[in-house]
Amino acid sequence: MQWERFFRQSLKPVEAYQPGLREDQVRELVQVDTIHKLSSNESPFPPFPSAIQAMQAKLAGLNEYPDGSSYQLTKILSTHYKIPQQQIICGNGSNELIDQIAASCLEPGDEALYCWPSFVVYRSSAQIAGATQLELPLRADGSYDLAAMRAAITPRTKIVYVCTPNNPTGGPVTADELAAFLDGLPEQLLVVVDAAYEEFLDDDDAARPLAHFDGQRPYVVLHTFSKMYSLAGIRVGYGFAPEPLVEAVNKVRAPFNVNSIAQAAAQASLGDESELSRRRALNAAGRLRLYDCFEHLGLQYFKSQGNFVWVWVPDAGQTFQDLLARGIIVRAFDGANGLRVGVGDESGVSDTIQAFRDLFA
Ligand SMILES: Cc1ncc(COP(=O)(O)O)c(C=O)c1O
Repeated sequence: MQWERFFRQSLKPVEAYQPGLREDQVRELVQVDTIHKLSSNESPFPPFPSAIQAMQAKLAGLNEYPDGSSYQLTKILSTHYKIPQQQIICGNGSNELIDQIAASCLEPGDEALYCWPSFVVYRSSAQIAGATQLELPLRADGSYDLAAMRAAITPRTKIVYVCTPNNPTGGPVTADELAAFLDGLPEQLLVVVDAAYEEFLDDDDAARPLAHFDGQRPYVVLHTFSKMYSLAGIRVGYGFAPEPLVEAVNKVRAPFNVNSIAQAAAQASLGDESELSRRRALNAAGRLRLYDCFEHLGLQYFKSQGNFVWVWVPDAGQTFQDLLARGIIVRAFDGANGLRVGVGDESGVSDTIQAFRDLFA
């Protein structure tokens, strides 16, 4: 059977997403008591107590479809961010929003521009749409090179992605750099700023992408409840976009894309500023401990504004396996001689440091 004849040509270069190893997979491979899954930039902490309560309260109502327009959630987001409700989109994770934006905007011949390595879905969604990918190197500090991106724009460029702080390297662009980049940018471009890790920022110079959102210019900001809010398992992300784009996305999205438990959890999570600051401080302290460890061991790393740190190692494949044998699951990337190490809770960071010391001291 020639299966290829059924499939769209544009799928040929697409690689199916490879998630990080799960704890149960690792348990089968290695004999260790404690496993720290630090491979998917998840939070090491449970969802906020208010979110757990809200999710439990929703269980008995699961016979009904969710609110297809995420009305209450967009309303709460609107009040929280002071952005009109019609300019807010919710997705089954912000991953889905990236896919939906590509599906509603990109055609063969269009170009999608971003730096690389970065979040893999910019690439896959452009590939699926049959668009051309323009991938530029990151700067030496692991952040997006906005000046190089500006210079690489062609008349065919349609979407420009800016990931700040960038996954997997953690570098943010500064507020001044983002402002300069947007100043006088050709109108034909849709700028999508992915701020999945913004809640972890503690650098005052780092860009706050929403500051540039006016609901008019072709400019979108994406956020997620998966990272700082610890809701990766239930899948809910959101974005701010001008109304015409929200309407286009509504045409391609599945009718009930955000489930009712996710909507309830997200609503209950917003606004707990003291818990956010507490978790931000814990993450920042964990990052500093990892830096300190890498410096002592003579390993180069990128300063990160996310909940992960990229570290260069002589042999990434071997180090990945050696860490795994010690119960530390990190993320390796094809062809890269570095690893992305998630910032765990206190014991997660301690065990990560001990494992690196075992290997490199
Ligand atoms: C930069 C970035 N954007 C978006 C996402 C997608 O997050 P989610 O679909 O869980 O909201 C991720 C997940 O790792 C990410 O790293």
